[in-house]
Amino acid sequence: MAGGKKQKELMRLDKFLAEMGQATRSQAKELARKGRIQVNGEAVKSADQKIRPDQDTVSLDGVTVGYARTEYYMLNKPQGVVSATEDRHFPTVISLIGDAVRKDLFPVGRLDIDTEGLLLITNDGALAHDLLSPKKHVDKTYLARLEGRLPEDAEKQMAEGIVLEDGTKTLPGVLKRLEGQEVTLTIHEGKFHQVKRMFEAVGCRVIYLKRLSMGPLVLDEKLKPGEYRPLSGDEIRALERVTGRTE
Ligand code: URA
Repeated sequence: MAGGKKQKELMRLDKFLAEMGQATRSQAKELARKGRIQVNGEAVKSADQKIRPDQDTVSLDGVTVGYARTEYYMLNKPQGVVSATEDRHFPTVISLIGDAVRKDLFPVGRLDIDTEGLLLITNDGALAHDLLSPKKHVDKTYLARLEGRLPEDAEKQMAEGIVLEDGTKTLPGVLKRLEGQEVTLTIHEGKFHQVKRMFEAVGCRVIYLKRLSMGPLVLDEKLKPGEYRPLSGDEIRALERVTGRTE
């Protein structure tokens, strides 16, 4: 899979198979006992032996198990799906990533259940942490359809930062009017329901919300709601640059 850093560490075979979604640790033990796992073509006797995931070839019943240390997907989140890894009532964004190799993927931040658009899905915890860090102020741009009349000076109010109903003040936002009742708003933080609350504070209701971009990552117009694709190497590098992880 694209991106990620070189890994030279050793990893237990059962952990490798579990992380690649092939077998639980106890199943791996059993598979090894039955001689169904090979490392570099040799059947292994025990699943607790160590391997080098980036060098060794592991196969299960003769089929190579591909190794992905990190995975990165761009999802166009549809409405009705929750930004979580598990949920008792609704499908999750993770359940939409049918090609996932890793079992430890999660969404980077949250979109409301009725919000559509760009969501990054990965298992790169350090990148996610940096992208969400309030200190990094990564831009997020949303398309909103509004009910109600925007005040004449809404751009100025947004640019000065909005005092929300609980008294907290947002960082400055950039508001642009589009056709009819549509606008875009760029914000630099991620308070709970932030966009909806910013518009409520100026007397409007958001009736449709879609995230268009997050930092350098722009929603691919080819993706319909519910569709996803892996990030390109350039997109991963751009995210690493914006979080200051690489020059
Ligand atoms: N702001 C909101 O109000 N909702 C979202 O889903 C994202 C940003």
